[in-house]
Amino acid sequence: MKHILVINSSLNLESSHSTLLANQLAHHLSEKYQASINSQDLSTHDLPHLTQFEMNAWMTDPSERTSEQQALCEISDTYIGQIKRADTIVIGMPMYNFGVPSTFKAWVDRIARAGITFQYTPEGPKGLLQNKKVIVVAARGGMYQGTPKDTQTSYLKDFFGFIGLTDVDFIYAEGLAMSDKETSIAAAQAKIQQY
Ligand SMILES: Cc1cc2nc3c(=O)[nH]c(=O)nc-3n(C[C@H](O)[C@H](O)[C@H](O)COP(=O)(O)O)c2cc1C
Repeated sequence: MKHILVINSSLNLESSHSTLLANQLAHHLSEKYQASINSQDLSTHDLPHLTQFEMNAWMTDPSERTSEQQALCEISDTYIGQIKRADTIVIGMPMYNFGVPSTFKAWVDRIARAGITFQYTPEGPKGLLQNKKVIVVAARGGMYQGTPKDTQTSYLKDFFGFIGLTDVDFIYAEGLAMSDKETSIAAAQAKIQQY
């Protein structure tokens, strides 16, 4: 059986366009490929910023970790385990202040782990994950796709590529704070149906 992991991070919860569209894509794929769905809404996870203490816990031998260190390691281990189990990762992605939500960045900081999801070699960094498709469903108030101001797209491609996930597609719903948001949402939904 195939497994789909959905990562949402909009603070708008059920009125979020990115969450709605990402969930629609996941259900479409799930019906088409008889896949299971594991849906995670990071805006409800209360993930703190990564600290030196948490990073040191990762680097402490498991047999020597305190229970506090072990509990911190389990945050990252759980998120990485969810990615490893998935064949397809659907990301519901709002644009906040030209970037990603801070909750999503806190998740990214738990996913990039030396020796587990990437490693440095004499030739440079090497991603340790492979054979997974990532589909980002991006919702934005303005219109930035294809312009130099859309650093969110290149950031997401760079991050997923860094951990070995180079097959990354994007579906955009843009201009949602502008006049014709229905057309933009309908176009995104039409793209979803093409998967
Ligand atoms: C804190 C915040 C910052 C935002 N920053 C931007 C921005 O930089 N560019 C933009 O096009 N839209 C911006 N918006 C609008 C959102 O991208 C838009 O409302 C989008 O639909 C959010 O996704 P959601 O519907 O899944 O919550 C911002 C919204 C919020 C709440």
